[in-house]
Amino acid sequence: MGARRVLIAGASGFVGRSLTAMLAAEGHHVRALSRRMQNSVPPGVEVVSADVARLEPTTRALRGIDVAYYLVHRLDTLRFATRDRICAARFGQAARRAGVSQIVYLGALGDAAGRHTPHITSRRETAAELRRSGVDVCELRAAVIVGAGSAVIEAFRELALRSPVLVVPHGSQHRVEPIVLDDALRFLKAPLTDPRWRGRTFEIGGGEVLKWCELFKRCVDAGSCSRRMVPMPVATPRLSGLWMRVFADMPASMATAFIRNLGRDAVVRDLQARQLLGQPAMPLEPAIRSALATGSPRPRVSGVYP
Ligand SMILES: NC(=O)c1ccc[n+]([C@@H]2O[C@H](COP(=O)([O-])OP(=O)(O)OC[C@H]3O[C@@H](n4cnc5c(N)ncnc54)[C@H](OP(=O)(O)O)[C@@H]3O)[C@@H](O)[C@H]2O)c1
Repeated sequence: MGARRVLIAGASGFVGRSLTAMLAAEGHHVRALSRRMQNSVPPGVEVVSADVARLEPTTRALRGIDVAYYLVHRLDTLRFATRDRICAARFGQAARRAGVSQIVYLGALGDAAGRHTPHITSRRETAAELRRSGVDVCELRAAVIVGAGSAVIEAFRELALRSPVLVVPHGSQHRVEPIVLDDALRFLKAPLTDPRWRGRTFEIGGGEVLKWCELFKRCVDAGSCSRRMVPMPVATPRLSGLWMRVFADMPASMATAFIRNLGRDAVVRDLQARQLLGQPAMPLEPAIRSALATGSPRPRVSGVYP
């Protein structure tokens, strides 16, 4: 299959920026959409400013597109679930009207027992709204994606730099399977050209499973921070959330989602993506070091994963 006409909704975000650059470099015709594209894009990439909650401009933006990536998400209000649902429903409708053949959605890995946090539930509802449009949706579910500008890594960096004591929130003995950005991009690219990914849901991870508190410790170590880590002995999500708000400078909605997600496993159980595309190749440790060294501007209101 040759060059495809691709729209990336959320192209100004952490994942969207790199996906835009990669697909453009590979010769696809890329249209980059967000409400306000402030970052530069590679030559040849078409830029569109539109709010996906608005049907008409989004339909116009999607005309002539084969495959639309949906990377839209924000956690800057406690009513994020309602807003994300509306955005996904409108985007799906617009894609159907514009004749888009496939939507690729990057969602979130959740607890295997289905005990989802409100944040993960909302990510699942987003997928359901996109599917309701009738357009084929390929959903890729990931936990933390590691790269410069990743919300979780940046939050850990801020805590390590600013908090006088490194509190390990209760619950962070649960397990997480992060994935390095380059590997996530490889999985994201697959549905563009391989029909076996069409209309299906996959779980993607980096292959290394660790506890949330170990991920925090690795970020602290990679940032050469010498402070002691103090476990919080009892479940005090409010206190942990306050700590995140103050020292990682997060909005309440994001801090709450973050702390709740630490209390759940986010590990790949379904290996179909790996069977189709092979093992992820990028090791975690150097990726964390490189993400912290790059020192990208910290996103303040983006998603918190898984
Ligand atoms: N980051 C991770 O570790 C991670 C892990 C697992 C899954 N994911 C998934 O990956 C996707 C992208 O995550 P990310 O970390 O790249 O998010 P991000 O950095 O917060 O980017 C979100 C993007 O959504 C755009 N956006 C928000 N509201 C919009 C609207 N109404 N209309 C148009 N654009 C809108 C934002 O652009 P403007 O503000 O300029 O409009 C931004 O480009 C999400 O679906 C998320 O569930 C991420």
